[in-house]
Amino acid sequence: MRSIRSVLFLLVLILWGPVTSLEALAHGDVTPQSVDTTGLPSLGTETLSSNPYSGNALALEIGTSAFNQNCARCHGLEAISGGIAPDLRKLDMDCMSLIDVAKKQGCFDDHNQYFMVSVLHGKVRNGNVYMPPFQGFFSQEAIWAIKTYLESRRVTE
Ligand code: HEC
Repeated sequence: MRSIRSVLFLLVLILWGPVTSLEALAHGDVTPQSVDTTGLPSLGTETLSSNPYSGNALALEIGTSAFNQNCARCHGLEAISGGIAPDLRKLDMDCMSLIDVAKKQGCFDDHNQYFMVSVLHGKVRNGNVYMPPFQGFFSQEAIWAIKTYLESRRVTE
């Protein structure tokens, strides 16, 4: 699973250009709410694979609001899923029990990459939009801020 996610991430990087046309796909009738990341260190154009804001209080605040405005309607208030979309508190749950520090970080990073790709490109299969793509609406800064919020909501069981 993990290696599949890494391969997917690489593919996405390669297909970056062509895939941006996915942006044209419907966002349903809900426009993503822009996220003001003023005050967060800016991250440049290269997509990172670790969350640079983990534990950052401002990122948590920005991410909480961004999640509530853009993700909660499907993934649930306070990230507690009502069942229509995956429970994002559990996204990297498997990593929590790893003891080896390097392995644990590697595990988080695999999930971070999968998270980034999922948010940028949404979940679109056979023309069905299960989740809209946020590429073009969210900066990398905004996406890591949302991840920071989800890290604060992690569950281990
Ligand atoms: C319109 C509903 C909807 C919205 C809005 C939405 N999602 Fe999703 N999301 C889904 C669904 C449904 C899936 C599962 C899709 C599938 O079957 O692959 C999903 C999957 C994901 C996944 C992969 C989870 C996994 O376990 O594989 C991530 C990460 C994710 N969403 C993050 C977000 C974030 C962050 C936001 C807000 C910026 C967001 N989503 C907004 C419906 C939504």
